Amino acid sequence: MGRRFDPSGALGGSLRPPSDKSISHRAALIGAIAEGETAIQGYLDSADTRATIAAVRALGAEVEGVGPGGVEPTIRVRGVGLRGAKQARIDVGNAGTLLRLLPGWLAGQPEGSWTLDGDDSIRRRPVDRIVAPLRAMGAKVSCREDRLPPLEVEGAELHGIEYVLPVASAQVKSCLLFAGLVAEGETWVGEPLGSRDHTERMLSDAGAHVAWLRGGVQLRPIEGHLELLQVAIPADFSSAAFFLVAALLVPGSEVELQGVGTNPTRTGLLAVLERMGAEVEVTPAGKSGSSEPVGTLRARASRLRGTEVTAKEVPQAIDELPLIALAACFAEGETTISGAEELRRKESDRIATTCAALSALGATVEPLEDGMRIEGGGGLRGGAIEAGGDHRIAMMGAVAGLASRDGVEVEGIEAAAVSYPGFEADLASLLGA
Ligand code: S3P
Repeated sequence: MGRRFDPSGALGGSLRPPSDKSISHRAALIGAIAEGETAIQGYLDSADTRATIAAVRALGAEVEGVGPGGVEPTIRVRGVGLRGAKQARIDVGNAGTLLRLLPGWLAGQPEGSWTLDGDDSIRRRPVDRIVAPLRAMGAKVSCREDRLPPLEVEGAELHGIEYVLPVASAQVKSCLLFAGLVAEGETWVGEPLGSRDHTERMLSDAGAHVAWLRGGVQLRPIEGHLELLQVAIPADFSSAAFFLVAALLVPGSEVELQGVGTNPTRTGLLAVLERMGAEVEVTPAGKSGSSEPVGTLRARASRLRGTEVTAKEVPQAIDELPLIALAACFAEGETTISGAEELRRKESDRIATTCAALSALGATVEPLEDGMRIEGGGGLRGGAIEAGGDHRIAMMGAVAGLASRDGVEVEGIEAAAVSYPGFEADLASLLGA
């Protein structure tokens, strides 16, 4: 489906973006691993997070409040306990987080076997990064060409390991922590740079023995079971980021985004934007469930200058790098992003798709092996882009359209629903439509 996003007047007003996708996945999964009932307030109703509900149901968890008509304000998950997952075939759809997190827990089940598969894009996303360390824990896992889904998991006896991730990845770290929950002995996961820590926070809330030590995360086995009881999901910083950047780029704009998760392992974008000269303000507003900090973000149209984003900033801004590239087209001078090879393994090869989209709209942008270089100052002419099934590229295209001279036609805008159902309606409300 194609949609045009024309140069707009200023954006204004205030809204709460939809709930956090990463934290929603974790709440449903940890709710399923726990015993008793977990009330999840504000579970994200998106394609990806519905796949997780379907998965936990297939594994034997009962879920109330999610039906064909939508997701109720509070859903309830009755878990199967640490070792009670039923054998199933799991369709993860487009959800990389579900694909990578769930096998850890399944691998340590006393019996059963599971197949995880998904759409065409999922079938191109590597799982060797979880297969290798899971095997080192004693797991019986196999996959296509030893690298790609479908993934086959057979329940086995696991033992804890000490493992340093070759590349920072919250998905791999979380997978190993889930495996550690059902393994003998301690599990320790180190990362070259800190990735998002939602799993650690929520597991700790559920009674797991999680400790941050020696620059990594340690998980010690528990006697008994996990009990999560209640979680409130904050709004998704990565969804808020689209309007934040739109406000910076469209003259005269000023927007406020409320109830947004401000976990510092997610908000690397803010430091980059500040360096670029952006007027963005964060007002803390306490904590939501799962010990996650929440705040109000305010952004005002700003004159931007180019910057350099290097490897150390990448994990905490990983999903926002396409937006940084977009902002860079409007900034004075050059911007380079490096150390971001991981971008090639997202819902699309985001180095290729971001560069292709921006250059189709008139930007001077050069893809690099591990990032990109953008010559700023010229803004964007406009034109047409193809989202290629990637939600973040679709929404970046929409924001580009508002700030462009001639408007942007986004083919495949429906991909936005993977993380942001209602994106177009929320955008229209900030445009006063
Ligand atoms: C996610 C972690 C990140 C991120 C993805 C969601 C998560 O992936 O890009 O959108 O929920 O854990 P990696 O862990 O592979 O970097």
